[in-house]
Amino acid sequence: MEYKRLGSTGIKISPLVLGTMQFGWRVEKEESFAIMDKALELGINCFDTADIYSYWADNSYPGKTEKIIGEWLKDRAVREDLILASKVRGAMSKDINDQGLSRRHIWQAINGSLKRLQTEWIDLYQIHSFDNDTKIEETLHALNLLVEKGLVNYIGASNIHPWMLVESFWVSEKNGYVRFETVQPPYSIVRRMLVEHQMYNVIKKYNLGVISYSPLAGGFLSGKYSRNAPLPESPRSESVKKRYFTEHRLKVLDTVEEIAENKEVTVAQVALAWILTKDFITAPIIGVNSVEQLESNLVALEIKFDQDELKKLDEVSDWIPAYEAIR
Ligand SMILES: NC(=O)c1ccc[n+]([C@@H]2O[C@H](COP(=O)([O-])OP(=O)(O)OC[C@H]3O[C@@H](n4cnc5c(N)ncnc54)[C@H](OP(=O)(O)O)[C@@H]3O)[C@@H](O)[C@H]2O)c1
Repeated sequence: MEYKRLGSTGIKISPLVLGTMQFGWRVEKEESFAIMDKALELGINCFDTADIYSYWADNSYPGKTEKIIGEWLKDRAVREDLILASKVRGAMSKDINDQGLSRRHIWQAINGSLKRLQTEWIDLYQIHSFDNDTKIEETLHALNLLVEKGLVNYIGASNIHPWMLVESFWVSEKNGYVRFETVQPPYSIVRRMLVEHQMYNVIKKYNLGVISYSPLAGGFLSGKYSRNAPLPESPRSESVKKRYFTEHRLKVLDTVEEIAENKEVTVAQVALAWILTKDFITAPIIGVNSVEQLESNLVALEIKFDQDELKKLDEVSDWIPAYEAIR
């Protein structure tokens, strides 16, 4: 496996990151342990989580996912082998101050995450999205302190607008704070614009690491969905239908299916391999519900497209990329 430098940081990560959102929601502890064991064994050295996972599920609560990871880290004694990424921002309880990016909540959140994860540090601590109620100066001051105290190595930002990121760099520079080193946006062959529009320029100019999420569009590109097939049994299927069943995206899926069939690989493998052709993405974060899905998705690392295939995929999913529009 070829490890990649994470933006301007000094660390290297695997070309696929293991997502953990489904731990405690779609898969319980035993299967979660098996997936993490296999991921590490296969060379994936970076896991992504968040303090709120998986608050939305009837069978779960905020912090459950981190707790499962923490138990695994302790049981397997592998903390040193991993780049661990988590997030702060979402509501951890009904308390109005137990959410957001205030200094108070960031301290509360890091203490909770470190305890649940049973670790002394988090490698990459990300804001889960922006917080309009808190000044970026306050947030960055708090995050800077976490780095100074050795509780966090790097900070990153998920679901943030490009202009906010640039503003945050000015604040970091002016005050001598650490800056956001990574971004975590959604990115897939059916959801390109968010990254390829203005964010692309910021990523390049500031040499940011990009660990993008939902590479299979929440399952739309997993092979289980197709233009005329009934929706698969999944708690995500209704939201997938709502977001992705448009003519443009179904045409992209048709092409991915066609190329997968010709290459005798899976739809998911083609969709992941296409992301791996994009040099501005450091590593997509994959979400799997079983060891079998994990092993299957990793085959994407070996798939190469010829020029015709790549042209077809790029064109069918295209919009006007910012780097061409500004030429
Ligand atoms: N920062 C954020 O706001 C944010 C948001 C979302 C996710 N994330 C991160 O990104 C990770 C991945 O996100 P995601 O779950 O949306 O990723 P995804 O890869 O787009 O979708 C994963 C889903 O695809 C299906 N799948 C995956 N591999 C498959 C295979 N080989 N065969 C059949 N089905 C397969 C499963 O669907 P079924 O469940 O239907 O079986 C799985 O739940 C998360 O775990 C989390 O760490 C971050």
